[in-house]
Amino acid sequence: QARATSCPTCPLPTPEEFTRVLQEAYLRYKDLNEGKNADYIPALAKVDPSLFGIAIVTVKGDVYEVGQSQHPFAIESISKLFVLSRVMNQLGADELEKRVGVEPSGMPFNSVLAVELIPNHTANPFVNAGAMATTGLVRGGTQDERWAEILGTMEAFANRSLPVDQEVYRSESETNSHNKGIAQLLLSYGRMQGDVLGAVDLYTRQCSVSISARDLAVMGATLANEGVNPLSSKRVVARENIPHILAVMMMNGLYDASGGWAFRVGLPGKSGVGGGLVAVVPNRYAIAAFSPPLDAYGNSVRGQRAIEYIASTLGANVF
Ligand code: DON
Repeated sequence: QARATSCPTCPLPTPEEFTRVLQEAYLRYKDLNEGKNADYIPALAKVDPSLFGIAIVTVKGDVYEVGQSQHPFAIESISKLFVLSRVMNQLGADELEKRVGVEPSGMPFNSVLAVELIPNHTANPFVNAGAMATTGLVRGGTQDERWAEILGTMEAFANRSLPVDQEVYRSESETNSHNKGIAQLLLSYGRMQGDVLGAVDLYTRQCSVSISARDLAVMGATLANEGVNPLSSKRVVARENIPHILAVMMMNGLYDASGGWAFRVGLPGKSGVGGGLVAVVPNRYAIAAFSPPLDAYGNSVRGQRAIEYIASTLGANVF
C-alpha cells in the first residue's frame, strides 16, 4: 500500500496507476455477493444486482473507468448533494445552516423519530427530512421553474443533459407516503413553508434522475475542482461553499454509517439507494461506483469496498 494520507501538492497518480487500481478493485469485488437492492421502491428492487462499474475523474478532466461505468441508474439520495449546492449558492452557507442544519441525526435516513427528537427537526440536508426542506428552498415562481433549477444544476455538474427515469419516478410517487408524512410534520414545526406536497414531488423527481458512475465521477470532480466542472470549465458552485459542502458529506454522506466511513476511508462521500456512491479527494479527483446491493444502512456494498480499496491504494485519506 502506498501513502495513507492525501498530499494535495503531490503529482496526481499516473494514468497507469489509475487504470491498474480500477482493474484491481473491480476484480476484487465483482463477485462479492453481500447486501440487497433497495426493496421499498419497487422499481429499484428489480435492477440487476450484478451490475458493477467504477469511474475516476481528475480535476484536469481525465476520465478512467471500468465495468458497467456507463450503465444508467437512479441517482436517489445523491441528488441531495447537488440540490444542497444549488440552495447554498442561492442563500449562502449561514442561512442554509440556520434553515436546515448540518448535524448528523445518528438515525436512519427516513426516520420520523429523528424529526421528533432532533431540536431543529430537519437535522441536515442529507436525511430525507432535511433534503425535502432544502428542495423546498429552491428558488422559482412555479414548479416548472424550480424543477428547471434542480435539473439544470445536476446537468451542469454532469456536463450533459440527464433524463428522468419515468418508471422510477412513477414507482416512487406511488409509494412515497412516508416522505409525505415527514414533510407534513416539518410543516407543523414551521420547518417547511408553502406548497409542501409540491416540494415532495420535486424531491421525488430529483431522486429519479438517471446517471452513470462516469457521470457521478464528473459531478464529484466538480466538487474536487473547487466548484468548476473540469470538462466544461464552467463554475457550478461558489468556491466559498465547497468546504461547507464537503464537511456535510463527511459528517452525513453515508447516513448513520458516516462515522465508520470517515474512520476507514477519510473522504467526503455521498450514497444513494440506487446503488451509487461518490467520494471526493479535494483538489485531486473523485471516485464513483455503482452496484445496487445495499447494506443495512442503505449504502452500496461493492461501492464502499471498491472506493475504500482505491482510496487506500492511492493514499487519498484527507486525514
Ligand atoms: O426518499 C427516498 O427514500 C429515496 N428517494 C432516496 C433515499 C436514498 O437514496 C437514501 N440512500 N441511501
